[in-house]
Amino acid sequence: MTPAQVASRTQLVPPQLDSTIPTQDTAGIAAGAGATATTAPPLLAGEHTLPASWWFNENIFNLEKRAIFHNSWLFCTHSSRFTKPGDYYSFQVAGIKFFIIKSRGGDTDGELKAFHNVCRHRAFPVVQKQSGTSTVLTCKYHGWSYNSQGKLSNAPQFDQVEGFDKSENSLYPIKIHVTKQGLVFVNFNSGDDVVPFDAWFDGLSQELSEFDFNDYEYHMSYELHGDFNWKTLMDGYQECYHCPVAHPGLNSAFKMETYKVVPKNRYCRHYATIVRDGENTQSKKEKEEVEASKESSSSSSSSSSSSSWFGFGKKQSPKESTASAAPPPQKKTSANKGGEFDGLWVYLFPNNGVNCYSPAWYSIRVLPISATKTTLQYDIYTKKGIDEETKNEFVEFLQQVELEDFNLCQLTQQNLNEGVYSSGYLHPVKENGVLYYQKLVRDAVIKHLELEKSQNGGRSIDPAVIPGSKKNKDLEQLEGICSSLDCASGTNNGELSW
Ligand code: FES
Ligand SMILES: [Fe+2]
Repeated sequence: MTPAQVASRTQLVPPQLDSTIPTQDTAGIAAGAGATATTAPPLLAGEHTLPASWWFNENIFNLEKRAIFHNSWLFCTHSSRFTKPGDYYSFQVAGIKFFIIKSRGGDTDGELKAFHNVCRHRAFPVVQKQSGTSTVLTCKYHGWSYNSQGKLSNAPQFDQVEGFDKSENSLYPIKIHVTKQGLVFVNFNSGDDVVPFDAWFDGLSQELSEFDFNDYEYHMSYELHGDFNWKTLMDGYQECYHCPVAHPGLNSAFKMETYKVVPKNRYCRHYATIVRDGENTQSKKEKEEVEASKESSSSSSSSSSSSSWFGFGKKQSPKESTASAAPPPQKKTSANKGGEFDGLWVYLFPNNGVNCYSPAWYSIRVLPISATKTTLQYDIYTKKGIDEETKNEFVEFLQQVELEDFNLCQLTQQNLNEGVYSSGYLHPVKENGVLYYQKLVRDAVIKHLELEKSQNGGRSIDPAVIPGSKKNKDLEQLEGICSSLDCASGTNNGELSW
């Protein structure tokens, strides 16, 4: 990190909130039950999506990493998965490998800690497995060992090395926050200017209390690997305008006309009324739209070539998965698989969702790999004591909906990549959630780019970067050579065209 980067830390600004974005509430348009054509004011057309290049350009993607992913509170997991000291899970988000561990000893005994998965010796990953239990973590390169507090406990044959101080070689810590409901978040920004969690997501903790997370236990996880930008998935997640057409199963579980998205503070609440047993509220027009969509969706969903389920639960080949994306056979008397609870669904800027139903809740984490590659990770937690059949029904219900979304993203991204399409209209009410989060993305990217231009001559400022040891006098000078070469070769973000 250059001196300018360090100096500019205090001016790093998080994505700004904008109260001018119309929510369904502020627009005065009730998407829920009770809205009528005669009472609703006219809708104003006008807002467009961000330009398509933001879905495939690698420079934009790298800028998003610095401006957003390395400077935001990111949801990871639930604390109930850590039962004993040394339990750990490893993660990778926007290129950063890290792990979360339940610590033992010291002032913070039993607390969750997050560390970069980077050995302080020569950068080999300290943790190799996705999960495990150990209060001593030994690097498999040269054998340095760390305790669950991240402290270096042993560095073979370094005892006699003059000037070497174990206490200066602890694992790099990552800021972590656990909500009172047990939701675990991290923030990669290594500076002192991080917006506190409760200010970042002001009001979120209160809303999460509507759901009893303690009554649920971890059930299973699965992953999908998509050939699309992370925003391609978030676009679909942030609206249900597509649901009547693309999700026939979901369409029979919820009263789609009641679906609405309400932007809050870097998060959005999604609302819809569940269909109780025996109810069928689908309007004739909606039925016609669904019927009309069946033909096109059956042909469009045939290209899920890179999808794959793994982890626990039902494993499906891409072909089987695609076949199951057809409307499910409707059992005449079966209960709603979503349960009898209207749900607590929350989008968490930038890339996460927490969706709570009656029989289970699940998280979706949309993990950017490159501009056009994204991993989707789903963790499912089921209600304690429910039977296996109910769990399986919920998982099937969820996987079907998620696969339908996955297929939409695959084909959408292919067209975005071609560059013919540049931007499209967003519906001011039905797609207000898309508008909200895209504006957060836009504002964060522009602000960070301006910061890099004004504070660092157009060279990148990465909030996640941890300054090197002050003992190494050469480091800044050598780092400066690298930065100047980036500038000369045109790889710095100052070359971006807008
Ligand atoms: S890189 Fe870990 S011990 Fe050398
Ligand atoms: Fe969807």
